[in-house]
Amino acid sequence: MAVIEELEALKTKALAAIEQAADTSALDAVRVSVLGKKGTLTAILRGMKSLSPEERPVVGKASNAVRDLLEQALEERRTKLEAVELENQLEAGALDITLPGRTHNIGARHLITRITDEIAEIFAGIGYHVVEGPEVETDYYNFTALNAPADHPSRGMQDTFYVVDRSGEVAEVSGESDVLLRTQTSGVQIHTMETEDLPIYMIAPGKVYRRDVADPSHLPQFNQCEGLVVDKGITFGDLKGTLDYFCKALFGPDRRTRFRPHYFPFTEPSAEVDVSCGICGGEGCRFCKGTGWVEVLGCGMVDPNVFGYVDIDPEEYSGFAFGIGIERVACLKYDVPDLRLLLSGDMRFLRQF
Ligand code: DAH
Repeated sequence: MAVIEELEALKTKALAAIEQAADTSALDAVRVSVLGKKGTLTAILRGMKSLSPEERPVVGKASNAVRDLLEQALEERRTKLEAVELENQLEAGALDITLPGRTHNIGARHLITRITDEIAEIFAGIGYHVVEGPEVETDYYNFTALNAPADHPSRGMQDTFYVVDRSGEVAEVSGESDVLLRTQTSGVQIHTMETEDLPIYMIAPGKVYRRDVADPSHLPQFNQCEGLVVDKGITFGDLKGTLDYFCKALFGPDRRTRFRPHYFPFTEPSAEVDVSCGICGGEGCRFCKGTGWVEVLGCGMVDPNVFGYVDIDPEEYSGFAFGIGIERVACLKYDVPDLRLLLSGDMRFLRQF
């Protein structure tokens, strides 16, 4: 019978093709060409209709046998090829686990950030919350509402970066208040008293800007931490106790503090706070210029005029405020002789802390 011969030839050819298939996709192509819808074996099965009733069962049986045989051969070949492919894949992606690893440099918080966090933690521990204020500020918040009239010398004390518009004029907000980079964080006091309910116990750390040339004790951009308390019955004793506690918490319990009278427009009375020198213990050395003391912050009782700007009744409420120079404090705590080192980005310096 011609069909049986045809089947035999198909089987031999297909078996050879299966054996020769180099990978699983080639093998798939062989399967489709024989067993697929338009495959050669499928064509033979379709042609059965035209066979005589005696031939049909014979050819049917033979075709089924060929199909079973080919399916089995395909399956065996597939198992083999898949194993080879997996092997190749593993080899291509092989790792040499004996190579030394690539090390990642682990970063750390900058000293300024660390001291800022330390200060915040100390004050958080005694019930203060942290407030943020804008670095681009107006004349009103930076000076006027802090009780510095237009011709007041405090405006001259702190050389200011003004923001100019395209025409080169100093930019203004609602036609009256100049726009500037804040020279102090004290303006956050005003924002806080305008927006928060009393009593207030807050600190506000952040960057400030002044037209200074960088030298060992000055930077044109540095950080301050403002503090403000407004409550009923707050006295200068509260101010002294709080700041003495703060200095001991930050520098160590054996440090002493002293309050020197000073002037700030927004506080009355005002003071500067010194801590005993950590290098000589108060004996006097080069670091403290022989005095035994180093200055760390300014402070005072909130001036009633400032309360006037934010509608707080000074007969009912009183408060104190303070401003800490963060870089200064960092340098005092770690005996850094030059503020510029903090900004140098020199890893040998920064890694020490
Ligand atoms: N703003 C002052 C400065 O930059 C520091 C300061 C002094 C802040 C006394 C205060 C304060 O809140 O009460 O020099």
